[in-house]
Parts: sequence; structure tokens; C-alpha cells
Amino acid sequence: MAGIILKDVRKSYGGNVDAIKGVSLDIADGELVVLVGPSGCGKSTLLRMIAGLEAITSGEINIGGRIVNRLEPSERDIAMVFQNYALYPHMTVRQNLAYGLKNRNVPAAEINQRIQSAARSLEIEPFLERKPRQLSGGQRQRVAMGRAIVREPAAFLFDEPLSNLDAKLRVQMRVEIRRLQRSLATTSVYVTHDQMEAMTLADRLVVLNGGRIEQVGTPIELYERPATTFVATFIGSPSMNLLKPTENGTIALSPGGRLSGADMTIGIRPEDLHLAGGASDAAFSAKVRVQAVELVGAESYVYGTLADGQTIVFRVSGRSRIAMDTECVVAASAGSLHFFDGQGNRSDPL
Ligand SMILES: Nc1ncnc2c1ncn2[C@@H]1O[C@H](COP(=O)(O)OP(=O)(O)OP(=O)(O)O)[C@@H](O)[C@H]1O
Ligand SMILES: [Mg+2]
Repeated sequence: MAGIILKDVRKSYGGNVDAIKGVSLDIADGELVVLVGPSGCGKSTLLRMIAGLEAITSGEINIGGRIVNRLEPSERDIAMVFQNYALYPHMTVRQNLAYGLKNRNVPAAEINQRIQSAARSLEIEPFLERKPRQLSGGQRQRVAMGRAIVREPAAFLFDEPLSNLDAKLRVQMRVEIRRLQRSLATTSVYVTHDQMEAMTLADRLVVLNGGRIEQVGTPIELYERPATTFVATFIGSPSMNLLKPTENGTIALSPGGRLSGADMTIGIRPEDLHLAGGASDAAFSAKVRVQAVELVGAESYVYGTLADGQTIVFRVSGRSRIAMDTECVVAASAGSLHFFDGQGNRSDPL
């Protein structure tokens, strides 16, 4: 069993750069956990500490029941896949795959067998005798995956492995990685700042913000019950609307939609807002002046402003025609409203 347990892990880069400010996390055997967060929040640092490429300042890292704080990367039984494949250019694909195993004195027959099986599942058999430069970006990324797989490690660590690929290939490889990870059931930590990738790959998502964990949960938990405004706006695209009810009543809340405290924020996802014919008795309603309409195929996103100047975005069907610079009323049901207090923490109605 190879779960990964982090206990109050911290990292300071000399002076006053506290990259990781105390992270505790329990990753189950076979689980795929995705670390997400904005640039500089500490994703790579945390991953590199698990790999042993970066020393930890304090805390404890446990992989498969062993405390690995003082172990070299090679002693940790993990395999890492990076964004820039890092394949040996002068070796064939087969040699690239075999290299790490030869160094570990794995018998030749077993090396061949592992390469064959990885090549088959990654569909790179036709390229085994080619050099990396004779492959496309996607094929190289498969080889990089293959090199991790043949090691049969206790855990995979991925740092933005798909960010060099074009959009279509990313989606294809994302599905591939998910399928492989499920079939191998190898504990995995996957870093990305692409929230679609995060949502679709993760068993559980960890949202990092400034070196701390903001929230941990399944993708749907984070989407439906974000604990903070940070998570609320980070997960989901376009972002959740965060609105301040103002004095002049530009936002109407029915009696069910309680408001307490002047610094309360209401969160509504663009897909939870709908056009109301005229005056609405929904839990939430507001009059919107349309500023821009973005047609993205099956649906459109409408950007507008409320009478007090706050901006709002809502989704309509791609076929609906909304003209710029017109006014409309949008509404949302009580169940789709999120409430946050002045500190940005979720504050559900009692
Ligand atoms: N070797 C280093 N020396 C000093 N500071 C560093 C070092 N490496 C990273 N940092 C700092 O630590 C913080 C976290 O960096 P990290 O690379 O983990 O971010 P990240 O979440 O992976 O970002 P990105 O999405 O841009 O890759 C940043 O503020 C960064 O400037
Ligand atoms: Mg990074």
C-alpha cells in the first residue's frame, strides 16, 4: 500500500520566502489528487518536496508507510513526469524506456516485457526504434509517461505534463492519463493550473493559495460548496459572480434569501442565472444592462452591469439572441445562491 501522508510540511527559501506554510494532506493508496492554484502558490514546490528534489524545511512526508524526509529521490520509489518530457535525444524510444530499469539491474527479459506492455497501452509500439526528435509532441509525452510506467513505482508525480500540447491533444492525453491511472491504480499527485484538467482528472482536488491549502474535496464538492470566495472564483469558468447587495436595492432578494451583515457577498454561478420575463419573484433577481455577448457554440455568455455598476455574467442557450445595450432581468433560485461573510468564508443561511 502506498498512500502519501504530509504532516505540517513547510518550505522556506532562505530569507523570507515562505513557499509552503504548513500543509497536511492524506492521499489514499491508488488515489489521484490534483493540486491546483494560481501561479506561484507553491504547487511545484510541494510536488518537488514529495519527490525529494527539494529539501523540506520542517514537517514529515510519508510514502507507503516510510518517512522519506531524508531519503534521496532515487530511494523514494516514485516516478515523475514533467512538462518538458526530458527524454534523452540520442537514444531511441526503447532505450529511453529501458534506461532507468537497466540502472536498477532489472533483468533484460523483464525490461522487454515491461516495455512491451507499456508501449501497447500507450500505443507507441510503432515508434520504439525512433529517436525523440522523430516524434510529435504528443508522442513524446506518451514516451515520457511510458518511462514512468515501466518503473512500476509506488507513486506518480506529474507537474503540468500536458502544458506543451495543443488544446485537442491535451484533452486526448487527459483522458488517456485518467484511464491509465485507473487501470494501474497507482497513487498519483498531479499539478496543473488548468481547472478543466483538474476537474476531470481528480479523485480529489487540493486548492492551494499562497502556500496554504484553501480547500480539499472531490471536484463536485468544491464546485457545489466552495468554502471560500477564492475557491468559488477559481473553480468554474466563467467564474462565479460575487455580488454585493447595495442600499438602493439593485439586487432583489425574496424573503427566503436572507441577508445579514453589510459585508455579505452573494455568489451565483453564470449557469444558475436565467432570464426572467419581467419582474421576478425568484430568490434572487436583478436588472442587467447587456455589455457583451460571447457565443461559444452551444451556449453564450452574456456580460452586463447592474444599475450600481457591478458586473455580472450569465449563460444562455447559444440560439438565444440577446442584443447589446438592452436591458433584461436575470433571476436565480434560492438553492443556487452561495453566501460568504466579510472574510470571504462560506456562510450558509441557517
Ligand atoms: N529556488 C527558489 N528560490 C527562491 N524562491 C523560490 C524558488 N523556487 C520557487 N520559489 C518561490 O516559491 C513560490 C512557489 O513557487 P512554485 O514554483 O512552487 O509555484 P507554482 O505554484 O508551481 O507556480 P506555477 O504555476 O507558476 O508553476 C513562488 O513565490 C516562487 O517564487
Ligand atoms: Mg509550477
